[in-house]
Amino acid sequence: MPASRAPRHASQTPSGGEAKRGFAPLVVAVTSGKGGVGKTTLAVNLGVDFTARGRKVLLVDGDLGLANVDIMFGIRPLYTFQHLISGEKNLEEIIVRGPSGIHILPASSGVSELANLDADTQMRIIGQLETLGGRYDAILIDTAAGISSNVMHFAAAAQFVIVVVTHEPTSLADAYAVIKVLNQKYNVHRFQLVVNSSDSEAAARRVYQTLSDIADNFIDVVIDYLGAIPRDPDVIKSVGSQRPFVEMFPSGAATRALHGLSEALLAKRSRVRQGDAPMLWTRIIE
Ligand SMILES: Nc1ncnc2c1ncn2[C@@H]1O[C@H](COP(=O)(O)OP(=O)(O)OP(=O)(O)O)[C@@H](O)[C@H]1O
Ligand SMILES: [Mg+2]
Repeated sequence: MPASRAPRHASQTPSGGEAKRGFAPLVVAVTSGKGGVGKTTLAVNLGVDFTARGRKVLLVDGDLGLANVDIMFGIRPLYTFQHLISGEKNLEEIIVRGPSGIHILPASSGVSELANLDADTQMRIIGQLETLGGRYDAILIDTAAGISSNVMHFAAAAQFVIVVVTHEPTSLADAYAVIKVLNQKYNVHRFQLVVNSSDSEAAARRVYQTLSDIADNFIDVVIDYLGAIPRDPDVIKSVGSQRPFVEMFPSGAATRALHGLSEALLAKRSRVRQGDAPMLWTRIIE
């Protein structure tokens, strides 16, 4: 994406639509067991779609090893979390603006280091994160795959944990492993399943049913079927062009499916109690 489409820095804080009216932000973590199943694609497009619907969105690149959100948007952030830790930059200076005005907290490597910092530095950074976070309507966190503790902390701090799977048996088995760890070690009881690259709605529902049946037999969790995104060559083209598919192919099959997911999440969001989200970062770091 040309630089003109994605100004490097967002120096203004968002005013917040729902945030302004006193709603807590919707906090969603997108995770998976197996890698490469479409988490970043989903997080980026969901974020841009929410933004297009007038929501103030912060997209957090929580993949501490292989940050990808900036690549999907074709932007090159100048600063990272390290500049925040060193005190060279404040949070608003490291946030980058992407399409539709979405705000991106790039490659948050350094978040894991927060736990080891002195109390004053921790409080300075967490204070900034909590204050800024409260001004958004939604905070979407794109995590790495698997069961590393960073991923688990991000997911455990969110109100909604989206687990992305494909029809591949390995993806299902690994998704089950993530759900089990999040449940047993981090007390997460509810999950939102998204079946990506599905061949049909019926096939996606079968994937959901399989996972849900296994989970029902062995662990005490609720898995909701949030929806499916079809396998769609537009998605591959959009990733190659470093543009969100919802913008590049506004009437394509993947976009239509994504609209359904956005609406389903926003409908669930209206049932989230006010006050559930504050202290998000404190919980991530603890
Ligand atoms: N619905 C889809 N239809 C076709 N191709 C898709 C679809 N979703 C994702 N892809 C392809 O899969 C690739 C991997 O997607 P993505 O990077 O979002 O996965 P990920 O889960 O974030 O991976 P990682 O675990 O490495 O972070 C994309 O580059 C894209 O080419
Ligand atoms: Mg990714």
